[in-house]
Amino acid sequence: MKLWGGRFNKETAKILEEFNGSINFDKRMYEEDIMGSIAHSKMLSKQDIIGKDEQIKIEGGLLQILKEVEGGEFIFDLKDEDIHMAIEKRLIEIVGEAGGKLHTARSRNDQVALDIRMYLKKESTVIEGLLGELLEGLVETAHKNKGVIMPGYTHLQRAQPILFSHHMMAYYEMFKRDLDRLKDSYKRLDVMPLGAGALAGTTYNIDRHFVAAELGFPEVTKNSLDTVSDRDFIIELNFIISMISMHMSRLAEEIIIWSTSEFSFVSLDDAYSTGSSIMPQKKNPDIAELIRGKTGRIFGNLMGILTVMKGLPLAYNKDTQEDKEGIFDSIDTIKISLVIFKEMLVTMKINEKNMMVGIENGFINATDVADYLAKKGLPFREAHRIVGELVVYCEVNKKRLSELTLKEFKGFNDLFEDDINRKISIEECVNGRKSYGGTGLESVETQIEDAQSFLKKNKK
Ligand code: ARG
Repeated sequence: MKLWGGRFNKETAKILEEFNGSINFDKRMYEEDIMGSIAHSKMLSKQDIIGKDEQIKIEGGLLQILKEVEGGEFIFDLKDEDIHMAIEKRLIEIVGEAGGKLHTARSRNDQVALDIRMYLKKESTVIEGLLGELLEGLVETAHKNKGVIMPGYTHLQRAQPILFSHHMMAYYEMFKRDLDRLKDSYKRLDVMPLGAGALAGTTYNIDRHFVAAELGFPEVTKNSLDTVSDRDFIIELNFIISMISMHMSRLAEEIIIWSTSEFSFVSLDDAYSTGSSIMPQKKNPDIAELIRGKTGRIFGNLMGILTVMKGLPLAYNKDTQEDKEGIFDSIDTIKISLVIFKEMLVTMKINEKNMMVGIENGFINATDVADYLAKKGLPFREAHRIVGELVVYCEVNKKRLSELTLKEFKGFNDLFEDDINRKISIEECVNGRKSYGGTGLESVETQIEDAQSFLKKNKK
């Protein structure tokens, strides 16, 4: 019989069990469920709601169940509906009557809220660690390739030369904000819900703060209705994972482009790329493509939970059982993605020469020619027009800007002097961009140093 079977005269239909049950996916919260129950039983005993001897039996039984699950002996049966009832049923089998007292002053509604918060706290911390490692990978890659110059793009058209490390550090900034978001959202996860009961609290003289302290929560939730119906924290984590995934997907896309024969800016390590079953010459950036692709499913999980919640009246509704599969999937996906993405990144070879080819053929220093004239007093708009004409001249005569003679320059404007070629050399174009946050070497070195000292502190 079901634990809630008292008011029923008939067994539930088989198909209902399959439809209604969540044990197949909520079983991963077994440890949280057991630890939450132990804390609850201690509180019940401290408050004289159950006897000390009963608490000891309950705790012993729960710890035995923990061993059974970890030893692979525990039977997860769909008939038990969810992890909460499966564990409670087994507890009653092991310790008898005392086991039946565990659910006093508690409901599955506040119990599931506790389990999921505990589970997400654990996983959010793991993701934080992995994200920290990706940040380290980016800084390491930036540091290793400090002098490398690449074309910087807007509209995916060559725009201005930049340092490759500047490009890496741009991603560092994005993922660093994601790390901040994770840390901030943790505060909202870290609030203890047990004691809200089914929806309205309880008539027992419970001590919620004791349970919170036992389980390492700094505070307890303030409104019982909110407590059992709130899933904001799941949406928030889903969103942060979506953001991380979106950021990874952007860099993945760049790596896919960079590793084409057309670009050849980078070569992926053999260990992190795959071959084609038909075309022997191919080396495919599958990891980067999968990272980009998995983003779709992660966004889907975010939309899923937002949609589940949008029409729900207070307080608990069974709809919220649908909160788990999406976030579990997002968590699993982002964890493996972060690990493999970092490995792919740090083992990737940078083809400095090919980046230079891109730079030399792109009139990429045209802005600097205009700036040259503007610094000599010509209005920038006017300078811009002149350089536009210069570029057309170069195209017609198949020359680079740096290959023009002073005479040719002077043909367009008299302000050109013989320092022009030095002033528009690629190194000068990059290193001259000393403005705070710009691509000049000094600025990038500052970014790298700041990042290194942050990461050192973050590790502690
Ligand atoms: N399996 C349920 C869930 O995940 C647990 C809470 C069920 N509560 C209830 N009153 N049916 O949401």
